[in-house]
Parts: sequence; structure tokens; C-alpha cells
Amino acid sequence: MSDASASDAKTGEPIRFYGRRKGKPLKATRLHLLDTLLPQLAIPKPAGPIAPAALFAHAPERVWLEVGFGGGEHLADQATAHPDVGFIGSEVFLNGIGGVLKGIDAGKLTNVRIFPEDVRFLMPALPTASLERIYVMFPDPWPKSRHAKRRFIGPANLPELSRLLRDGGELRVASDHPIYVRWCLQHVPVHPDFAWAVTGPDDWRQRPADGFPTRYEQKAIAAGRPPHYLRFVRKARALPHCGGGAAQTASACLD
Ligand SMILES: C[S@@+](CC[C@H](N)C(=O)[O-])C[C@H]1O[C@@H](n2cnc3c(N)ncnc32)[C@H](O)[C@@H]1O
Repeated sequence: MSDASASDAKTGEPIRFYGRRKGKPLKATRLHLLDTLLPQLAIPKPAGPIAPAALFAHAPERVWLEVGFGGGEHLADQATAHPDVGFIGSEVFLNGIGGVLKGIDAGKLTNVRIFPEDVRFLMPALPTASLERIYVMFPDPWPKSRHAKRRFIGPANLPELSRLLRDGGELRVASDHPIYVRWCLQHVPVHPDFAWAVTGPDDWRQRPADGFPTRYEQKAIAAGRPPHYLRFVRKARALPHCGGGAAQTASACLD
């Protein structure tokens, strides 16, 4: 199965969207969880299509994806708050994977699966409209314009994010970096499949009521960098075959 990675126009090399894969030496508890719990929860690099609900014992009706969960606090908190939802978390940073395993183990969470790799290897294997929500919390900002193509939210990944979300599903992005926030607003709402769900001038300055803080977010707030919270809704797919010449939505077809 091919991945969805974009490649550099000059070198042909896959574009890397993330920074380091390993940090400080891992503590014994985390190493133990990486050896014992990760093999039970890890989604292997796909060799073919994957039905996300089938990854979970309770075959959830709703599956949410978190891209780059960092230390995994947000993922574990969301999974605790929504036991009926199946969560897929993807992260390449080994120390972060150790962190989320600690949260999963402590909360005895049964609704989380981990893709310990670049999420772009997983996305093409997931069926169209199979996710209800995608979180990209405080993605690496790559602020230099020569690195703009590394920004996860952007022309390289938006078509795939749009394909994966079901109608009315949400792409939730948070960032404390003004360049990244501006970049998102320049790219996502102009994409034909997404609408910015903004309810008022202060809406994007406050964490959504159903949100939880991430570690990076807490550091940003402590350093005086206010985060911005962006919610983009996946528009309803048109059903051109459903009578009439004009493209229609599913609800219009039922009327
Ligand atoms: C700035 S950190 C934020 C971590 C966390 N979301 C938080 O807010 O604390 C961004 C994370 O995204 C991860 N990441 C970047 N690109 C990724 C990709 N393509 N697949 C999976 N993880 C990725 C990085 O390894 C890094 O840990």
C-alpha cells in the first residue's frame, strides 16, 4: 500500500513533517509499557485497507484520530471522557508514546489504539468517511517560509483529511503560532470541503468546552503565547446521482 506522503519537488525525498523521534532516556515504567502494552495496542504499518471500528473490541460507531499526540495527555483525557468513541492516536516520538501508554494503563482505557509511526502511512489505509473527528493539536509550526511545505495542515494533507472525515465531522486544530494560525485560515476554509465553524470573535481564543489541555498548550500559555483553537467542519458530500442535474446533499435526496 502506498503512503500519502508528499515529496520534495527538487529532491524527490519524502517531506518530513515532524522533528525528533527520541528524546531523554525513557524511565523503566515506560520502557516496560513499550515492551508489554504497546504490542497489544499498536496498529501495524498497513499492508492493505483497515476498518477502524474493527480495531476495537466494542466496534464503536464513532472513531476519532489524533495526529501527533505528543505526551498523550489530551488523547487519554478525551478517551476517558468518551468511552463509546474509538480513538486512534498517532505519534512518532518514542517518549510521547511511552507517555500515552502510561495514561492508558493508569486509566485502564480500552478504547485507544496507537499508530507509532508517521500518520501518513495510516491514512490511505482508512476508508472514506470513516472518521468523525481529527485532532491536530499544536502541530510543529515550521515557521520559516522555506519549510512551509512541512506544515501538516496544508495542501499536501487536506485532500486526505477531507476524504477521511464523514459529513459533518470535524477537523480540530490548535496552535499558538501566529504564522501557523494564519496559514490554516488561508488554506482550510478555502478548501471546498471545509467550513470554519466560528461562532464569534472570541470563539477561537478559548479552548472548546469539550476540550482538554495538551502539554504543549500549557507551556505556550505559561510562556505568554495565547493558543488559538480552530474547528473546521467537513461539508456534506454531494450525491450527483440522486435525481436532477444539480449536485445534492444526502438530506436533500431524502426530501
Ligand atoms: C509540537 S508537538 C505537539 C504535541 C501535542 N499535540 C501537544 O500539544 O502537546 C507536535 C507533535 O506531532 C508529532 N508529529 C508531527 N508530524 C507527525 C506525523 N506525520 N505523524 C505522527 N506524528 C507527527 C511530532 O512528533 C510531535 O510530537
